[in-house]
Amino acid sequence: MEQLVRNHASYILNLVHKMGSNYAGLPPMDWSQYDTFHGDFEKCSLLTAALAHLGFYMLMFLGFINSFLFTPKVATERNREGYAPLYNSFEQLYSRYVYRRVRHCFNQPICSTPAAEVTINERYTDDYNWTFKFTDRTRRCINLGSYNYLGFAEPTGPRADAAAVASRRYGLALASPRAELGSCLLHKELEETTARFLGVEATIVFGMGFATNSLGLPGLLGPGTLALSDENNHASLILGLRQARATVRVFRHNDLAHLERIARAAIAERRWTKIVIVLEGVYSMEGSIVPLQGVVALKKRLGLQLYLDEAHSVGALGARARGVTDYCGVDPTDIDVLMGTFTKSFGAAGGYIAGSAKLIRWIRAHGHAHTYAHAMSPPMAAQVLAAMRALCTPQGLRRVRTLRDNTHYFRRRLREMGVVTYGHEDSPVVPMMVFTLSNISATLERLTARGVAAVGVGFPATPLYKSRLRFCLSAAHSREQLDTCLAAIQEVVEELGLQYSRRR
Ligand SMILES: Cc1ncc(COP(=O)(O)O)c(C=O)c1O
Repeated sequence: MEQLVRNHASYILNLVHKMGSNYAGLPPMDWSQYDTFHGDFEKCSLLTAALAHLGFYMLMFLGFINSFLFTPKVATERNREGYAPLYNSFEQLYSRYVYRRVRHCFNQPICSTPAAEVTINERYTDDYNWTFKFTDRTRRCINLGSYNYLGFAEPTGPRADAAAVASRRYGLALASPRAELGSCLLHKELEETTARFLGVEATIVFGMGFATNSLGLPGLLGPGTLALSDENNHASLILGLRQARATVRVFRHNDLAHLERIARAAIAERRWTKIVIVLEGVYSMEGSIVPLQGVVALKKRLGLQLYLDEAHSVGALGARARGVTDYCGVDPTDIDVLMGTFTKSFGAAGGYIAGSAKLIRWIRAHGHAHTYAHAMSPPMAAQVLAAMRALCTPQGLRRVRTLRDNTHYFRRRLREMGVVTYGHEDSPVVPMMVFTLSNISATLERLTARGVAAVGVGFPATPLYKSRLRFCLSAAHSREQLDTCLAAIQEVVEELGLQYSRRR
């Protein structure tokens, strides 16, 4: 036993020593050879940033006074004398007195398929957003809020039919994790089809995209691992890294020179068994695209590993819809762990991890989601299979081109209005900056009244002064629908003075 431990320790030490000595002395990357564009992030004026901060602090201050004068309309902890408080007091104050003021613009219930149009249940409040009641009215809106990049969220048609057939054959759920009685032929077919689609050896699928990351990373990384994580990585990646007990160092968003600096410094420390870069294909809050060729060149030069989350890029990017690898001309087998979800481009739910056959065998044995979480629902698997097969036909691929054309058109028209948009020209996620929290609700209320459904994002999902509307484009949008939305946005932009761009 002692010998075994000693052998294992010397193996780890050799590995660590090897990582340090082989790579630290290599010449620096010549970034001029690569496209290192990290996205367009036009800065707002100092005045706008200062006013956004001031507005926030005023709301907090007023909230503080309010909490003294009036009892909040929420349940309070009782009989907890002597216990530490269960809730964080700053978060309570923020959610009760700042977020509550704009709460009517979030969590809007819908009652239709989230297709190019969506039906919203109307609600009202008679107590300043503490509670809501439904009216019996609904509102049909053009949908700029749902992730439906390729328009596969459809109530009828071949995908919906395939899902209906699967639900009649297997039921809605298999009542087991995959590792027990929860595997069916559809899963096998989906895993094989996804592997072929992505151009890798093997794939494993899960019932939930979020859990693919948060439960998948702990099976792959451990306490000796260093993760180099993009500052804008999704919550599921951050949670997965925490659960893996990996050490995390954060690099500036899409900044390859910064990534190289911290990677070299880490290698020189000679104490990591594994150094893994963790990033995304398309960033859903920034609308930016990872400069993948440069990342892969860096990873190869320094002997690092790469975990790439393609949740928003698979299907939506690349001439063959294969995602950011296809878009950037990178061989997918150069990515050690390729993760993605079926929620955005495939109109379904669930996630996958793709890579070498050995990797997938390892995840089947060590991944918590495969062993313990409920298997992917059969109708979902059928919907994804049908959508993926459609993407292998010319008609299916036309959706990818339509999405790109819609994206370019929409981004160009927004720029002409003088608003600040973030990200990359080809990204179907289009953040329009409104900077202050109150602008989110003012804009969304007016857009909804004009028949446009959209999503607002503010603190804590963004920095305090970087509130935004996040538009998601779809291949299902017709040009007329986009023009209707743009006309509504133009009216609202002019009414509220949202022309923050200083490039005109
Ligand atoms: C980058 C990224 N990864 C993972 C997820 C989680 O996926 P899902 O919503 O399919 O559970 C999301 C969700 O939006 C995401 O943006």
